[in-house]
Amino acid sequence: MEKMWAGRFQKTLDKKADDFNSSLRFDCRMYKQDIQGSIAHATMLEKQGILSAEDKTQIIDGLKGILSDIQNGNLPFDDNAEDIHMFIEAELTKRIGDAGKRLHTARSRNDQVAVDIRLYLRDEAEEVLALIQSLMKAVVDKAEESVDCIAPGYTHLQRAQPISFGHQLMAYAMMLRRDIGRIKDAVKRMNAECPLGSCALAGTTYPTDRAYTAQLLAFDGVSKNSIDGVSDRDFCVELASAFALLMTHLSRFAEEIILWSSWEFKFIELDDSYMTGSSIMPQKKNPDMAELVRGKTGRVYGDLTALLTALKGLPLAYNKDMQEDKEAIFDALDTVKMCLEVFTPMIATMRVNGENTYRAAQKGFINATDLADYLAKKGMPFRSAYKTVGQIVAECIEKDLVLDSYPLSEYKKHSALFEEDLYEEISLETCVKKRTSLGGASPDSVREQVEFIRNELERN
Ligand code: ARG
Repeated sequence: MEKMWAGRFQKTLDKKADDFNSSLRFDCRMYKQDIQGSIAHATMLEKQGILSAEDKTQIIDGLKGILSDIQNGNLPFDDNAEDIHMFIEAELTKRIGDAGKRLHTARSRNDQVAVDIRLYLRDEAEEVLALIQSLMKAVVDKAEESVDCIAPGYTHLQRAQPISFGHQLMAYAMMLRRDIGRIKDAVKRMNAECPLGSCALAGTTYPTDRAYTAQLLAFDGVSKNSIDGVSDRDFCVELASAFALLMTHLSRFAEEIILWSSWEFKFIELDDSYMTGSSIMPQKKNPDMAELVRGKTGRVYGDLTALLTALKGLPLAYNKDMQEDKEAIFDALDTVKMCLEVFTPMIATMRVNGENTYRAAQKGFINATDLADYLAKKGMPFRSAYKTVGQIVAECIEKDLVLDSYPLSEYKKHSALFEEDLYEEISLETCVKKRTSLGGASPDSVREQVEFIRNELERN
């Protein structure tokens, strides 16, 4: 196919150079948005008297025909076209002749592509938000189910204090909640200013109405500087960055799923539909889905880094380097969606083993803080109580006992404040139940968190 810009050239582009230059294989996914942008542009051109009513009608009908042909599979993307913008324009011209050649008046591919990516990411971000919300629902349901499972909470991966297992799960719901906020913020800015009409870099001498196209495309306003309009890719970086952080959260969650499902922990059991076997070890059930999510996190970080790096040295305005924005942000988007699509059912179908979490909580002196609090509540300064309990723990370890089985007579040797009620006070049930401080690890607090997130999800 002859290039649109062939007039200026004496030779055709080398085949390898042509393939190298082409972005059609990855930007063809924006066909709908490209057509949407072109329809708005043609509508504006006609309103402003730049295009005749007849040409406008032909263009819009032609574009609609192309859209349905692509959607029905009747118009394959021909790999000779340089990009989706040229593909559609060439096809339109093939179908309607001269009117098609008028569509590109007062526009350039530079502002066209800047608009298309925004429209595309705006639509896709909605899907990601819905996927995160589904994951939050699964997490919240699981937290409610396991609200009465007592488990050890960890710091440094050492057993630290007893918690409701649901409390740990709800920590992830809170992270996901912030991810939603970040993506919405990114979309807000992405949609704040429509760059269409910035043209190649300097605007145009035609009497265009940029506010009108912005309105037709449901942007909140128009970009105020044509150079910035065509060179801004901040919105890709912002979205990729929100995705990278979302992946960090999924990866931390995945890491815990992997640990918890190991023989060493056995806190949870993943459903067979989300585990894989080994080709050699018959006993194995592997948490591949969680591992892949953890692994793909690096890939999304890579996409963010690729975007930032592609932009950092670019002089204004458009440079072809910017074509690299799409593969990076599309890959981040596809990866995030794929991960969420398997993560959610994996969480929804996992089983929490409350007996095992309880057994793990019984070891490791995780009620030692509560014993120190017991003394402190009876008047001993907390630091002294902390030291006393430390000595008692050391004695217990030596005698292979735990705080709950250490005799009162031994306790009394350390302080007269110790009485029979200490056993009730340091029982795991009490330790967890009494952690009712706002946002604490008690079942009541977890129920409040569950309600808070559920209400918020309902409002969205
Ligand atoms: N395919 C190009 C891209 O994705 C479209 C813009 C091309 N503009 C240009 N002046 N060559 O960036």
